[in-house]
Amino acid sequence: MRFSVTLELLLVIFCLHKTEVCSLNILGLFPYPGKSHFFVFRPYLEELAKRGHNVTVVSHFPQKVPHQNYHDISLAGKTKILEDVFPLQKSYWTVINILHFILEKGNSDCKTLLNHEDVQKLWKTKQHFDLVVTEQFVSDCSLGLAYKLGAPAIGINSHVIVPWQYERLGIQYHPAYVPFLFLEGGSKPSLYQRFERTILHNYFNYLYKYKYQPIDEETLAEYFDDIPPLDYLAREMKLLLLYHNFVLYGSNLLPSNVIEVGGYHVAKPQELPQDLKIFIEESEHGVIYISFGSMLRASSTPRDKLEAIIAALSELPQRVIWKWDEASLPGNPKNILLSKWLPQNDILAHTKVLAFFSHCGLLGTTEAIYHGVPMIGMPVFGDQPGNAAAIEESGLGLQIQITELSKEVLLEKFRTILNPEFRKKVKFISMAWKDRPISAIDNAVFWTEFAAKYSNITFRSRSADVPLYQYLYLDVFVVFTAIVICIGFLVNYIITLLLRRIAKKFKQN
Ligand SMILES: *[C@@H]1O[C@H](CO)[C@@H](O)[C@H](O)[C@H]1NC(C)=O
Ligand SMILES: *[C@@H]1O[C@H](CO)[C@@H](O)[C@H](O)[C@H]1NC(C)=O
Repeated sequence: MRFSVTLELLLVIFCLHKTEVCSLNILGLFPYPGKSHFFVFRPYLEELAKRGHNVTVVSHFPQKVPHQNYHDISLAGKTKILEDVFPLQKSYWTVINILHFILEKGNSDCKTLLNHEDVQKLWKTKQHFDLVVTEQFVSDCSLGLAYKLGAPAIGINSHVIVPWQYERLGIQYHPAYVPFLFLEGGSKPSLYQRFERTILHNYFNYLYKYKYQPIDEETLAEYFDDIPPLDYLAREMKLLLLYHNFVLYGSNLLPSNVIEVGGYHVAKPQELPQDLKIFIEESEHGVIYISFGSMLRASSTPRDKLEAIIAALSELPQRVIWKWDEASLPGNPKNILLSKWLPQNDILAHTKVLAFFSHCGLLGTTEAIYHGVPMIGMPVFGDQPGNAAAIEESGLGLQIQITELSKEVLLEKFRTILNPEFRKKVKFISMAWKDRPISAIDNAVFWTEFAAKYSNITFRSRSADVPLYQYLYLDVFVVFTAIVICIGFLVNYIITLLLRRIAKKFKQN
């Protein structure tokens, strides 16, 4: 005890001396109730607390085991946690429907946030924060609160960039090579795919900016009367921690204040429960792991597709572990172990796990990359189509669309990724993924502290502020055209003059 007090004192003296960033008061605002989102943020927030920052977190997922320096303001119970709500089906209709659903969610999350007594206390007691970290997804409401608290803000994503983030960050969205995360096509789309993503990208941006964001602004106006437009506040964010890494998604053009921190959530593997351990270790030919995440109802998978998957698996010598929300599968296959909950990261870490068949959520995908497990991705909604395309393009696995899913096609893909040569390649890419000058979590913490330390400097890319007419060269084009026309007239004038002179001379002669 005495020792730790002395240590703290020393730390304070050291901090004052070096004018270093020491213990910061950090507020995390996470009003979106998506489990798979917050599970990405949690290790980051815990790490900040572990390093001595005083972290206050508003979320739907309060700690079960309290950590030092980590204070919860719990929104739990205020709204339904998003889990197992979407069926395993895919169409434009579902893409658009889900978008409306989550954007409406963003609006109601804003109300839930500002309505909470303990959140209101923050601004009523004028609690001081050095930095606010907010999730960047379907609502910018939190940025209004950060503004009210007078604290600089940074954003954090649990996925790659969503359509409405491009403009504010000054990143060029180009349908020809930038993956559109909600649709297929990756970075090499066909003409048809470029057409559909052009329409949807603009439609999503329109919806976000003109339909849903104004609703958040109205909600904020019920509490405060001086909040600038949310689009302005979004541009004022110091930086964005992006759950992204170029080894998976390919090299992209990102401004310097968009920091790639993909991969930090992967925890050190723990010992497996006895039954799983025995099941895996006693397998002669290794194990295939299947999970469609926390957002999909496995039991609503169309029956014929389910039977195709089971039939394909029955032709393979491997054992199968399947996260399944019901007690049995049609036909009760012998080589398949079912469970509603599984320690995914620990399973993927086992050397006898040879393949991962999933919906391509970014959490599981990242864990599989980390442990070098080849994947088959069957994407459904959200960022999954983008992730699945990235997996295939980077050589980490293959993708299969639900529409093309049949026993033969799936079996062919399994045989490809189970090939030892393929696995060797994946292990090599996994090595590249982990080979970094600074670990993802250290990187995330460094830039968080950096943002607080230099909060009065703007790091926004100039490209975010350039007016459209300049971006499209319109003014340059006008000037250029004017010059060309002037020169044209001048040349025309001179030629006419010369011709007249010559004509005159001829006449005189
Ligand atoms: C740390 O955060 C808690 C919760 O927001 C707050 O009550 C406390 O005053 C903070 N501590 C310091 C030293 O600022
Ligand atoms: C930012 O704040 C620091 C410390 O208060 C000050 O020295 C510096 O001049 C400020 N910079 C700008 C650009 O305002």
